[in-house]
Amino acid sequence: MLDRLNNIEAEARSELQSVEDEAALQSWKVKHLGRSAALGSILDGLRELAKEERPAVGRRANEVKTALEGAYEARLGALRARALDRSLREERLDVSLPGRPVARGRLHPATQMLRRVIAIWAEMGFQVYRSRDVETDEYNFELLNMPPYHPARDQWDTFFTTQPGVILRTHTSPGQIHIMRERAPQPIRVVLPGMCYRYEQQDASHEIQFNQVEGLAVGERITFADLKGTLTSFARRLFSQTVRTRFRAGHFPFTEPSAEMDIECFVCSGAGCKVCKNTGWLEVLGSGMVHPTVLANGGYDPERFSGFAFGMGPERLTMLKHQIEHIRSFWANDLRFLEQF
Ligand code: DAH
Repeated sequence: MLDRLNNIEAEARSELQSVEDEAALQSWKVKHLGRSAALGSILDGLRELAKEERPAVGRRANEVKTALEGAYEARLGALRARALDRSLREERLDVSLPGRPVARGRLHPATQMLRRVIAIWAEMGFQVYRSRDVETDEYNFELLNMPPYHPARDQWDTFFTTQPGVILRTHTSPGQIHIMRERAPQPIRVVLPGMCYRYEQQDASHEIQFNQVEGLAVGERITFADLKGTLTSFARRLFSQTVRTRFRAGHFPFTEPSAEMDIECFVCSGAGCKVCKNTGWLEVLGSGMVHPTVLANGGYDPERFSGFAFGMGPERLTMLKHQIEHIRSFWANDLRFLEQF
């Protein structure tokens, strides 16, 4: 009987060696320490043993029981320590690590300039009026004093659509007709920002799409002096309070007279440099007094009303400001370019 007890202990201990998790340990416990285990039945059957055998077997059986219970506890402790160790290792969270920075978006440089220009005009009392990108030949050209076959149309290389007479606007000027027809005979002070499209041979300074901000003021006593004063005031707000402006005679079919406004080069202050191509001046916009025919097309009597108009390109202004050499950088979506703003 004592041999049997030794075997029971040896077998239980050797099986315990290969127990690798708590579930297996529980089965081991049921098998070796449970009610129906071999050890259990020996303890239950002590009474039936011969009197002289009983004390030695009883003592040994209890020894084995205590030893196996101890071994069970020790194994349980070891398994739990190992599991804790693993989870500490594998699920470790280093709370002292710096957080991952959230990538912040920012406005496109053209949008930044567009908003700045619009904000300045708004300060000066001009409303923002949005006009359509898809236009008719009538609005884009005819009503702006360019009948079919008028040679001035060649200045605006046009994207046509498959719909006869429907084109992509080549400038924001057709918006002048829309607003005048809506407001006549009320006085008008608006800017018309928006994307324009031209079928251009692309190069460093020509793109097939670009923004323009058109401006229009119509009233009963608007003069060329108002045009000069207003545009000069705008240039001072945008560039600097001391910037000098210059008006050069120009030609646009929808204005008479027409003028292009230059500002003194802010890189060389007029001395001449690469940016201003040694002229000392930078061209910033086209303008003029609204042509009587255009006023009439908009529903205003040119005998009573007059007005001035202008058009500028925010991308061009941005290029001047940041000395960007290629207009194509704006729509190429190259992050190396965009991230500099
Ligand atoms: N529409 C002209 C262009 O695209 C710019 C322009 C010039 C607009 C003179 C005007 C203006 O309103 O008066 O080149």
